[in-house]
Amino acid sequence: MIKLLFLGDVFSKAGRLVLFNSLPSLKQEFAPDFIVINGENLADGKGLTEKTTRPLFQAGVDAITGGNHLWDRAESWEYIKGNPQIVKPMNYPESTPGNICSRLVKNGKRLSVITLCGQVYMPPCDSPFVAFERWIQANPERDACLLVDFHAESTSEKRALGWFVDGQASALVGTHTHIQTADEEILPDGTAYITDVGMTGAHDSVIGVKKNIIVDKFRHALPARYESSDRGLMINAVYLELDEASGKALSIQRIRRKVDASAESLSGLNNQLED
Ligand SMILES: [Fe+2]
Ligand SMILES: [Fe+2]
Repeated sequence: MIKLLFLGDVFSKAGRLVLFNSLPSLKQEFAPDFIVINGENLADGKGLTEKTTRPLFQAGVDAITGGNHLWDRAESWEYIKGNPQIVKPMNYPESTPGNICSRLVKNGKRLSVITLCGQVYMPPCDSPFVAFERWIQANPERDACLLVDFHAESTSEKRALGWFVDGQASALVGTHTHIQTADEEILPDGTAYITDVGMTGAHDSVIGVKKNIIVDKFRHALPARYESSDRGLMINAVYLELDEASGKALSIQRIRRKVDASAESLSGLNNQLED
């Protein structure tokens, strides 16, 4: 059996602090073989950098999936390209920096991780359905266990792709909206599914940004400079158990927990993490 912990969009420094603070107890509770996070918002909400990811890899994160914000930091493009633990959406242009699949191996256990982006209310990209189908056909020798992060806005597109990959992926977990949905289930042919895992970070916010800034933006219809919130810390994740031989999911458990600390009170960790 493969035990897998997946955390939805880890947003900004608050999200990284929550992750750092929670990893020891999560490891104790679930004893995961692999830990995967969506990291498109690690660096102050916009993309990721070597400085923001290195401490997370050292703390036990095995792979980081991307999304539409993955390339927000141009200085990180070469790093993203050269790091096999960072996964770019496979339905973006081939020339976009990054690797489309991370093949994880630990203690004889194998897991492949891929990411797809949605087309509805999202920046332009190719069809996730066609990209997935082509990749499956081109990789007959792939690992039995496959995790798909579907980074998309539309519930119907996510649900449809869930049905489309049922039986071919071990799990399809949604990300991008930063709001967790309560619809986790195992589909008939063995794919674990959830429309959105939610955000790990500051939930006293509008999807990670200080709430007053976004309220004013909508209220006055004026552009605004975003600042990440550091209040209402919460971990949003799923714990999955997969059958190693068949690649089918055995269970999916939704995790949504408040972290009883402010970012300031976690200041001991602050020194380990770059802004
Ligand atoms: Fe995000
Ligand atoms: Fe996103």
